[in-house]
Amino acid sequence: MHTNVTIFDHPLITHKISVLRSVDTSCKEFRELIEEIATLMGFEALRDLPLEEVDITTPICKTKAKILSGKKLAIVPILRAGLGMTNGLLNLVPSARVGHIGLYRDHDTLEPHEYYCKLPDDIENRLVILLDPMLATGGSASAAVNFIKQRGCNHIKMMCIIAAPEGIERLAAEHPDVEIYCGCVDERLNEIGYIVPGLGDAGDRIFGTK
Ligand code: PRP
Ligand code: URA
Repeated sequence: MHTNVTIFDHPLITHKISVLRSVDTSCKEFRELIEEIATLMGFEALRDLPLEEVDITTPICKTKAKILSGKKLAIVPILRAGLGMTNGLLNLVPSARVGHIGLYRDHDTLEPHEYYCKLPDDIENRLVILLDPMLATGGSASAAVNFIKQRGCNHIKMMCIIAAPEGIERLAAEHPDVEIYCGCVDERLNEIGYIVPGLGDAGDRIFGTK
């Protein structure tokens, strides 16, 4: 496996992903789980945020204490399904800016098509956390990383909940500098580009469109 890829093995994440997969999980539960899993994954993905030492006074004495050094973040969901993970990250870093990249996969070619891109002006100075629950062929994530890099940002972490081996291979090959965090890696893609066993169409399940 590539050095820039982290696969989570925490039982809480594994359990919640199993519930997420089930066809019997309601739209409401699905949405809640996507957000919770994003928070749990984000907690670990942000473990290298820099700290700085400041002087504080406790009720007992003066002391030095560490606080986040103000590294600027941008959370960037890939529409639609990445939206479901956004609040999960904002729960951890409420002051983060949020950009949006709109992409949909052509059902026949599986190629991603852009329909929207709005990123913070100063994205080049930020750490970008790119969100999409599904990394299937990797085409959408790779295209989204290209948009972000074109704006001058070179510090990107991609978080997905379920990945296919093919998607990890492609993203890691096209963008070896991007750190990839996956809740789990499934067996394969099927003939129409869905992850097996997967969870079906993440966008449709979050928004109840099917
Ligand atoms: C899904 C998913 C990813 C993409 C993954 O989105 O949310 O963005 O497919 O597939 P890939 O790795 O093969 O590119 P979809 O295109 O179905 O759009 P939606 O979120 O609007 O439903
Ligand atoms: N997009 C999804 O939402 N699900 C898959 O299995 C593959 C791509």
